[in-house]
Amino acid sequence: MKRRTFLKSMAATGVAASMTGAGVLTREAEAAKKIDIGEVKSVKVDVLTETSWFNNDIFKKNIMDYGGVMTNQYTIPWEWDNAGGYSTLITVTTLEGDERKILMDFGWQKEWMDYIYEEKSDVASLIEKNEIDFYVLSHFHLDHLWGIESTLKRKQDITLYAPKTYYPEDMALLKDKAHHKAKDKNTGKMMHICKNDYPHKGKLILCDPKGEKGEGIYRLMDGVAMRMFDVPILFRVRGENVLYFNVKDKGIVTVTGCCHPGVLSLLSYARKNFKGYKPYGCYGGLHITLFETWDPKFDDIIKGVKAFKIKKLGCNHCTGWIWAEKATAAGVPVVKGTDKYKTYKRYSTVAKASNVFLTNGDTVTF
Ligand SMILES: [Fe+2]
Ligand SMILES: [Fe+2]
Repeated sequence: MKRRTFLKSMAATGVAASMTGAGVLTREAEAAKKIDIGEVKSVKVDVLTETSWFNNDIFKKNIMDYGGVMTNQYTIPWEWDNAGGYSTLITVTTLEGDERKILMDFGWQKEWMDYIYEEKSDVASLIEKNEIDFYVLSHFHLDHLWGIESTLKRKQDITLYAPKTYYPEDMALLKDKAHHKAKDKNTGKMMHICKNDYPHKGKLILCDPKGEKGEGIYRLMDGVAMRMFDVPILFRVRGENVLYFNVKDKGIVTVTGCCHPGVLSLLSYARKNFKGYKPYGCYGGLHITLFETWDPKFDDIIKGVKAFKIKKLGCNHCTGWIWAEKATAAGVPVVKGTDKYKTYKRYSTVAKASNVFLTNGDTVTF
């Protein structure tokens, strides 16, 4: 292969810049390139709902019956009664002592989300009174997006951050009053899977890995940055927005929906790119032992997380109870949840007395 052709093919994979003379950065230049995202005083996370579905076996059966995890999520007639949702309320206190609120993700089943926003939290009133400062969609998975009617029926004119990597069905649900249906292969019937009669009318900020000014991140406010990781995800979804908070005197906290890019990638990104990086905390679905089965590679994630020496790890949703229990036993500082979830009208069939998940109604402050 000629040198020019070789370099051209390497450039396509982003490798050339680091191999040619001009692209090699000295340690000083690397340090100078690091981003200062500012600081906040504290970050409080309220787990509104992390029970995206209530029964793992039913969820798994729906997937296997329709071709496995690479199937387009809009072609599976998901068991409606098993749907819940994922949604998180984040309260940031600024260095000046002011509070800002971020609503991340909008759940799956509208009726469950109405119950969560109206009866189990004050989110319905926060939306109606315009007291949510930022709305963030982490990614286009059904359990994070399909319940958005519960939010939009209260206020359509919201500024929403979402990954740029959407598919037509996602945008139709957001903007075009879509009523999506999927075919039940046994009966031949078209089954309701999701709808939204309240189209989004506000500003939609579609995020990509370049970031808003080419620095790889979106700055929501001082001390709060968001990064879009363009990764392929299950069920024909792509890309996830991840939140980073820099808490004064403590360090960086990541908050995720499902953490599809991988928890170690998120922590590595912060270490490589943020000025004065100190690891501190982590919250979210961490997408590890989703179906509660073990593989030796999950031990490596425990080792990896320990190596970062984070001080507080709050996890739930697709993290898997098995991973959270093993990580706790191995000395990862997993924040324990409470029994509050038992006061909800439904809860997950895999919830256990070990309380290694922060589950519905729990709170963690960083
Ligand atoms: Fe999820
Ligand atoms: Fe997901």
